[in-house]
Amino acid sequence: MNDGLLKTQNICKEFSSVPVLKDITIEIIRGEILGIIGENGAGKSTLMKILSGIYTSTSGEIVFEGKAVVISDPLTAKKLGISIIPQEFNLVNDLTVYDNIFLGSEIRKKNGFLDKKRMMERTKELLKELEVEIKPDEKIENLSTVQKQMVEICKAVSIDAKLLIMDEPTSVLSQHEIEILYRLMRRLKKQGTTIIYISHKLKEIKAICDRVMVLRDGELIFTEIIQDITVLEMAQYMVGRELNQVFPEKKVPEAEVVFEVQNLTVPGVLENINFQLKKGEILGFAGLVGSGRTAVAETIMGIRKRSSGEIFRNGKKILVWKPQDSVENGINYLSEDRQGTGILTNFSVTQNTTLVSLTSYCKYFFQYILKNKEQEATLKHKERFNIKTQSLDTKLEYLSGGNQQKVSLAKSIDPAPEVLIANEPTRGVDVSAKQEIYRFINSLAEEGLSCLFISSEQEEIIGMCHRVIVMKDGRITGSLEGESINEEEIMFLATGIREGDISS
Ligand SMILES: Nc1ncnc2c1ncn2[C@@H]1O[C@H](COP(=O)(O)OP(=O)(O)OP(=O)(O)O)[C@@H](O)[C@H]1O
Ligand SMILES: [Mg+2]
Repeated sequence: MNDGLLKTQNICKEFSSVPVLKDITIEIIRGEILGIIGENGAGKSTLMKILSGIYTSTSGEIVFEGKAVVISDPLTAKKLGISIIPQEFNLVNDLTVYDNIFLGSEIRKKNGFLDKKRMMERTKELLKELEVEIKPDEKIENLSTVQKQMVEICKAVSIDAKLLIMDEPTSVLSQHEIEILYRLMRRLKKQGTTIIYISHKLKEIKAICDRVMVLRDGELIFTEIIQDITVLEMAQYMVGRELNQVFPEKKVPEAEVVFEVQNLTVPGVLENINFQLKKGEILGFAGLVGSGRTAVAETIMGIRKRSSGEIFRNGKKILVWKPQDSVENGINYLSEDRQGTGILTNFSVTQNTTLVSLTSYCKYFFQYILKNKEQEATLKHKERFNIKTQSLDTKLEYLSGGNQQKVSLAKSIDPAPEVLIANEPTRGVDVSAKQEIYRFINSLAEEGLSCLFISSEQEEIIGMCHRVIVMKDGRITGSLEGESINEEEIMFLATGIREGDISS
């Protein structure tokens, strides 16, 4: 019996005559979890979009369950039983959770009217399985990034798919949700669902996949059974060269306190947050999702209203009521919600990069933008972070997810802030770009930049930070320094439970 579920034969894809996928011939085995890895811009999402009917290939064939098929649109893919969790959110903000989950596949009563009750119930079940505590009739715009991601997962799982494609589902999730997702994946696999899983977190690929496929510059480099390949080998196949030490050496920050927060409180969200940041210090913020790390960042930036609390720069109290107030005081923010508040996808690479710092590229009271100066600065960022784009005038929507993230980072550092609040700075970027970002933040810190480093990846918190503040339920539960910055201590402060504790 042939156990191939889906085969592609010589799939090619070009965008404005630029080849992005070259002769991709693959076979996906029924019931497997297939990992696909590759650098930012390698073509992973493009291939997945072709399989799920979002794009059509320039040439090549697809065979599904033994029959040649043309997947001309997402509905056709759905009918075949192919479902996708897209890399970027594809949710309608002013609709409810259940409306979004059943958009296009609404449950109807016999009389043709929408069966709201059944859709709500089914949504409740799906949310319960993923342990997400939101109401089915909550509007998407009121959800956090993680909750939105969980809704995308529910949506993809709500149709009993034969092939479920997951394009970086965990880039915004923390360990807790990742484990819930793994449980779901294992259950689906047991029921016979085939899964394609894309991630830059290679340990995840090793933990959950049966086979792994490597794409590089639009070409299939190789496929291997997961037991026969190490994480390091995966990374090296991806980038095509040896990788050296990931984290740069930490330098001791200066003693001078440049930034301080006192008694920051947002009712029901943050309680009495106090901390200091020294010149050249990289201060980590760890904690489970919902612990309040993003709320701290947003309150400092004036995105969220505080009920009390004071913010100091170089010992002087500053008044922050809107983001511009912080920017004017040398503080800048790299948002975790890239598409929401981070970048403008219908603006070019250059326009995005200089969005916050535009005034420094203007002449004669802002009548002229110095285009050359703007382009020059953007080019520098492009080279530094290896941003893959056809040109600096390309709109961001045409860049791969990881490359959009690099532009978002460029935007946050272009105004040369003295305090950078980096929220999930390496979200969705590949291993070698991560190294570049770590080096870069580290070198800026050596030059005197102070950084609040918020991340759900413990490894980078441990590898990068001089000191780590851990939060739980809107409060600071502890601060770690030096040798005591390790996984166990962070988890203990984040959950209140030590490994091996018999606790409910
Ligand atoms: N609609 C589009 N128009 C033009 N170019 C595009 C379009 N979509 C993708 N590309 C280009 O195709 C290439 C592959 O992009 P793709 O999104 O498939 O990469 P990826 O492997 O998913 O990367 P990442 O890890 O960053 O998500 C990139 O160079 C990207 O700029
Ligand atoms: Mg992608």
